[in-house]
Amino acid sequence: KLKFESEIKNNIEGVVPSELLNLLKIVEAVSKKRGERVFLVGGIVRDLILGINNKDIDIVVEGDGIKFALELKDMLGAKKVKTHEKFKTAVVVVQDDLKLDIASSRLEYYEYPTSLPVVEYGNIRDDMYRRDFSINAMALEIDSYNFGKLIDFYGGYEDLAAKKIRVLHNLSFVEDPTRIIRAFRFAARYGFELEKDTEIFLKNAITDGFLKKISWPRVKQELEILFSDKNLTRGMEYLNEYKVFVEINPNIKYDLEMKKNIERLETLEDLLSFVKIKKWLLVFLIILENLKKKELDLVFNKFNFSNKFIEKYDYGILMREKILDQLESADKNSDIYKALNNISMEIIILIHIQNRKKEIKLKIENYIYNLSKIKPLIRGEDLLKNGELPGIEFKEKLRVYFMKQLDIENPTKEKILKM
Ligand code: CTP
Repeated sequence: KLKFESEIKNNIEGVVPSELLNLLKIVEAVSKKRGERVFLVGGIVRDLILGINNKDIDIVVEGDGIKFALELKDMLGAKKVKTHEKFKTAVVVVQDDLKLDIASSRLEYYEYPTSLPVVEYGNIRDDMYRRDFSINAMALEIDSYNFGKLIDFYGGYEDLAAKKIRVLHNLSFVEDPTRIIRAFRFAARYGFELEKDTEIFLKNAITDGFLKKISWPRVKQELEILFSDKNLTRGMEYLNEYKVFVEINPNIKYDLEMKKNIERLETLEDLLSFVKIKKWLLVFLIILENLKKKELDLVFNKFNFSNKFIEKYDYGILMREKILDQLESADKNSDIYKALNNISMEIIILIHIQNRKKEIKLKIENYIYNLSKIKPLIRGEDLLKNGELPGIEFKEKLRVYFMKQLDIENPTKEKILKM
């Protein structure tokens, strides 16, 4: 059931968490002083109505966003403000984990499809019109003229209720093809459908080749969010159905096996949080699994991944067969350790997901939960005490001791040194 059904004005406390409400009251005070209208906008308004937590506080001022932000900083006693004169935007950093993005309301238009937009001052209506979907084009007025009023020129509330993703005009995807991915992302996340005309506009944009003009580094940002979301499979199906995968690389085949791998990944939440791994990265690795080195590099470059990143994952992906062989024949802890020690955790989990054999999975889990956490008992100083002289063999000796430590039960320094 959606919030805001009756005028939020009468019940803003029931909808906006108290911490946020206190902040908004201070924003209101600043707006009163400056005589400017001010609004909470974008994703947070959508999520407040859906009753979903959202920490991105985006504020639009009908006036000078930068001056507004500077006054707000003083009023809040905030840590600092970062300003961007060129875009007339500012970030007020209240604390490290509490930031407010402030912008001046603006009108944007495109001189030709996919060009950078021309930006001018506009009113809140213009500012909402430049946005992607009706559900993202609502605002909540937070000045004293109308504190708590929902501003909804384009039927966003109705679309939230009807679970529809709707663009505001027919050129939306053409002007900014990244919105194609965003449409899938929001549809998947909330379990919404693409509204009929929106779907036609989207398909036309793809047929007319606008995916080819897309900015892949921007798509990467959207995919990172989509791939981190809970309702991932639905999003993957959209990307497959609308040929986004093929556009990333023609050899990506989103087949049953890949789908299963994604589903397996969804069951590994515990493991992922244990090793603090980014889920989106694993999804990337899963969809790229069949690519040869050359194609892999093309894709990584397309998305502007750093050279360091490419080196690390290229190596891991291409080494999978060898690592598997080593794991198959590993029968001691130290063998498992040697097989996995230099491999990034993402690749290790990728192997876990892609492999059917219980025995391999157990070895990998043993490494992740136990072996990778063990610290060597014998250290350099112990060898020195034993009268050994530092040298090239020193490091190798320490390694041998460590491997022994992994293989014996209840290891102690004495036990290991005796061996
Ligand atoms: N926006 C847009 N077109 C884009 C990107 C963003 O119109 N290509 C607008 C939307 O109004 C969106 C707002 O900018 O609500 C903020 O963008 P972003 O933070 O990417 O999206 P959110 O809606 O906040 O989504 P999420 O909750 O996933 O962060």
